[in-house]
Amino acid sequence: MTEILQDDASSLISPQDFATVATLLKQMAGIHLNPNKRAMVSGRLNKRLKALGHGTIKSYCAALETDANPHERDAFVSALTTNMTRFNREAHHFAHLTQNILPELVKSARAGGRVRVWSTGCSTGEEAYDLAIRVLEACPDAAKLDFRILATDIDKTALATAEAGLYPVSSLSQFPGERVDQFFDQKNTPNGMAQVRQTAKDLIAFRWLNLNSNWPFHGKFDVIMCRNVAIYFDTETQGRLWSRLTDRLQPEGVLYVGHSEALPEEVMARVRIDGAGTFRLSSGSSETHRNNGDPR
Ligand SMILES: C[S@@+](CC[C@H](N)C(=O)[O-])C[C@H]1O[C@@H](n2cnc3c(N)ncnc32)[C@H](O)[C@@H]1O
Repeated sequence: MTEILQDDASSLISPQDFATVATLLKQMAGIHLNPNKRAMVSGRLNKRLKALGHGTIKSYCAALETDANPHERDAFVSALTTNMTRFNREAHHFAHLTQNILPELVKSARAGGRVRVWSTGCSTGEEAYDLAIRVLEACPDAAKLDFRILATDIDKTALATAEAGLYPVSSLSQFPGERVDQFFDQKNTPNGMAQVRQTAKDLIAFRWLNLNSNWPFHGKFDVIMCRNVAIYFDTETQGRLWSRLTDRLQPEGVLYVGHSEALPEEVMARVRIDGAGTFRLSSGSSETHRNNGDPR
């Protein structure tokens, strides 16, 4: 027992090293590391140190800063992001989408319009597939129309899982059986795993994106989900992100945010509340028009 305690204590990184790590993570991802995360950070980075043969956090951070191994920057960000997600998380958002938003969007797509949905911080993909499933339930031929979902994240490891679309069957317990059968294949998969069917995959483009950097696309979105991502940023970074996301909404476009997230006053002045964590861009708040860009 004493040995375990000593081992744990000696593997805790120093406050100075923690500050260096926090600065690097802020620069690379805009993520704010709270000092109460020191044990978590120590555990995750000690694994990287072992894998790479670095003796100290100092030498590891120095190597990250010299950019000697750009892949390690991805691994560093991946090690320190929190990817917790699940299917049908905050289910009221999907009910709102189905009842209040999709009927109009489907009508618009069927009339030849362009419809764009964005899952920002999609993690391992559950949120994006949740969106695709609701779109396909409302519009089974959506892939043949100009109806697309962009799903982005900064964590390349999480994105690889998202693109694979292979999940434990147990993670689908939130869904009724018909939905599972319709959108997941369980026959040609490893035991206990379910594969998202191609119909849902066809609607989604998974892309790497740092939300706190420039966005390499100019289009506007009818629906943006940014849930449980901004909580990892400081107040100023959050405010900038909410404002940029609101700028990217079509008039009457909808922004879904996580239950513990709130929009700052200046953004609230441009939207109206349409449900829990659900905001619509007020028509007068945007000068721009539909169909003015393509996120793919
Ligand atoms: C807790 S998950 C939320 C997943 C999903 N939106 C949900 O609500 O279930 C947060 C995700 O945000 C991503 N993330 C954190 N900082 C980011 C950034 N600067 N740009 C893009 N994604 C980021 C993380 O990699 C992680 O996958």
